[in-house]
Amino acid sequence: MAHHLLEGKKGIIFGALDEKSIAWKTAQKCVAEGAEIVLTNAPIALRMGAINQLAEECNAPVIPADVTSPEDIQNLFDKSLEHFGGKFDFILHSIGMSLNVRKGKHYTEANYDFMHKTLDISAISLHRVLQAALQKDALNEWGSVVALSYIAAQRVFPDYNEMADAKSLLESIARSFGYHLGKQKKVRVNTISQSPTITTAGSGIKGFDGFYNYADKMSPLGNASSDECADYCVTLFSDYTRMVTMQNLFHDGGFSFTGMNEEIIRSLSNGE
Ligand code: NAI
Repeated sequence: MAHHLLEGKKGIIFGALDEKSIAWKTAQKCVAEGAEIVLTNAPIALRMGAINQLAEECNAPVIPADVTSPEDIQNLFDKSLEHFGGKFDFILHSIGMSLNVRKGKHYTEANYDFMHKTLDISAISLHRVLQAALQKDALNEWGSVVALSYIAAQRVFPDYNEMADAKSLLESIARSFGYHLGKQKKVRVNTISQSPTITTAGSGIKGFDGFYNYADKMSPLGNASSDECADYCVTLFSDYTRMVTMQNLFHDGGFSFTGMNEEIIRSLSNGE
């Protein structure tokens, strides 16, 4: 049920690969709430994915951009400013990729060329996007930028591998750049730390089913779905959260603040 929360707002959505993607759901919800959007993804993902279907549904142009390329990001901002006929209001950074995970390298045996690339795609890209937004003065006052994170930034989940380091850096960049964008442009920057979610990036993590089920059992409300994450993104793009910035916001059914769960303890005491 839509509430016109984003009526008159415009934004760029990074990272819609297929209909499971958090960005895909967010794009749909933003449009349902009255926003106009531009969709973007890496050229290779555009070839592999189904984004044209989403573009048609959302009446949105698709502008290719590899987030590791400053030229692509500049071009994306120029074309988006042209498309919208001026500044816009929000950006969703929903991007993650680990080369060491993909190549099956254990955390302790990381290849450093891969690690650089992982940090570049999954974290430094947020800096690159925010820098372009600032330099091009692309965002309206009270604009909002959201990036997706995971609790492995704070606590150890061994199989999350180097993505834990990438998420720590991502959250730090949101905080640090959030300060400058707040001071200079009255723009806010936050990360959402989302529950494990069944998507292409999520399922790439070793033992993902275990992660997913454990978190679901531990969280008093259960895992947050991608649809619910999209709803949360909408609120953060709306005018109802204008004073929230530089935060890492847990959207995880209470997982992050739960120390113990009776069912799990009982099953351990029963030797299950
Ligand atoms: P997804 O696989 O649908 O989305 C990841 C996106 O990153 C894809 O669209 C992919 O094409 C894009 N991408 C990768 N390399 C790129 C590059 N060089 N340039 C531009 N785009 C590039 O998976 P999902 O789960 O929707 O991921 C979105 C975000 O949510 C990621 O930051 C992920 O780490 C985060 N997240 C996911 C969780 C999960 O369990 N699925 C849990 C917590 C956070």
